[in-house]
Amino acid sequence: MSFEPRSLPVDAAAHAALAAKGLDYRLIDPADHPALDGWLDADQRGFHHSRLRDVVREHERAVMGDRRLHGVFDPTIPEPVVPVATVSSWPSGLSVPGGRSVDGWAVSSVTVSPTHRRRGIARAMMEGELATAKAAGAAVAMLTATEATIYGRYGYAPAAKAATIEVDRRRAHWIGPAAPGRVHYVDPASLREAAAAISRRAVARVPGEIDRWPGTLDRMLGLVDPDSEGSRAVRALRYDDEHGQAQGFATFRVTREPNEPGWVEFDVLAAATDDAERALWRVLVEQDFVSGLRGRLRSTDEPLEWFLEDPRAVTVSEVFDHLWVRIVDPAAALGARRYGAAGELVLDIDDPLGYSAGKYTLLASADGRAVVHVPRTDGADSAPKRERARARAAGTESGGSRSASRSASRAAEPRSLKLDVRDLASIYLGGVRPSVLARAGRITASTQGAIELADRMFASTRTPHLSIWF
Ligand SMILES: CC(C)(COP(=O)(O)OP(=O)(O)OC[C@H]1O[C@@H](n2cnc3c(N)ncnc32)[C@H](O)[C@@H]1OP(=O)(O)O)[C@@H](O)C(=O)NCCC(=O)NCCS
Repeated sequence: MSFEPRSLPVDAAAHAALAAKGLDYRLIDPADHPALDGWLDADQRGFHHSRLRDVVREHERAVMGDRRLHGVFDPTIPEPVVPVATVSSWPSGLSVPGGRSVDGWAVSSVTVSPTHRRRGIARAMMEGELATAKAAGAAVAMLTATEATIYGRYGYAPAAKAATIEVDRRRAHWIGPAAPGRVHYVDPASLREAAAAISRRAVARVPGEIDRWPGTLDRMLGLVDPDSEGSRAVRALRYDDEHGQAQGFATFRVTREPNEPGWVEFDVLAAATDDAERALWRVLVEQDFVSGLRGRLRSTDEPLEWFLEDPRAVTVSEVFDHLWVRIVDPAAALGARRYGAAGELVLDIDDPLGYSAGKYTLLASADGRAVVHVPRTDGADSAPKRERARARAAGTESGGSRSASRSASRAAEPRSLKLDVRDLASIYLGGVRPSVLARAGRITASTQGAIELADRMFASTRTPHLSIWF
């Protein structure tokens, strides 16, 4: 989705709601440094971070210059240049099952000053962002959340988890196959270009990952504030395949007390191939003079334990909802991913804010591709006969078996389920099975067999995962 972040006007409804409270909701021009700095200061304060050092401020100015920044201003406070609330957003791809990407709208920097809390400012901003996401042509909005109770009311739901992985060095004896290439230590600064190219490919392999931007790569590589203690501790590894092509990288630091073995701490392991992933894990795990390894924002489904003689050397903890997704255009969102099985499924979606409400017919073929039919106001099944015939010819109704296809063709009604827009977001990337949400009383089958079919269709080969905060 190519889009100039500031080309759309401020959402009129959000502006009016805040104006009624004596507040001014407006876009920040990143070329206006006093305004941008006021916004950055409010964002830092909102997340309880320290004031910015000059070098980091420069970095933040550059990152935020590519985003759409809103501030809410109260003209009656002593420092009216500092907004009392902030939000940032930008268009970004979100990887979906099948190695493709859907047009997404990333939302971040949601803060409201404690002096102005609980008077509807966050609600106005969040609803404004949904309207803008839709106007920009995004199929989904997405965010990461400090607390799990804030965003459900706007239709967001957890769609990909992350976890902390610890490895006990003494028990970590590698038995996995060797990779054909080699891992090298490299200067983090030298990785800048390669990291961007590898990240693009690594992100495409994993549903739930979002496009990286230059600022986040600089942060990973310790290049934002290179003289700081934290940045100088960053070590970088690059995996080159047997042809000398860079296929993966990892960054880590070792923390240790004097005369004590250290801990390898890492949060970046980006691999464009399975070989790269395996080789980088091995070097990270097989360090001496350390007690163990701790990786944050890892997948709940890492292959690591299968590389080690003692799988109990690996502990998975702090599993949490990490990526939150909000479907704003079900037809575009559902049409972007690939499906685990062929089938025809009617999704009767409830959405109190209206964006996704209605009955959508999802028609997936045996090759995983799908067409989606948007609701008809009379509630009738909208899939044209021609599409159905084509899908059946491709084995749609049966997962490939002809006899099942014949019996499905005889069925009077396609399988159908009722679900809330949040439940759709949770099953969208394959992170939770529809049958689990059915057991939880959230999704209901309107026709027999619908839940089982939905389980098969929404399955993802790879467990969704997001490995950064945004
Ligand atoms: C979370 C935060 C943005 C909410 O701002 P706010 O302007 O006070 O929220 P609103 O007055 O618009 O409240 C909207 C709804 O959210 C609820 N809500 C607000 N903050 C909440 C919180 N921390 N946890 C749970 N619910 C919350 C309100 O009760 C209200 O519910 P309702 O619509 O059902 O009545 C604000 O507390 C904040 O800045 N927190 C610190 C930074 C942070 O955590 N940001 C989130 C980044 S992901």
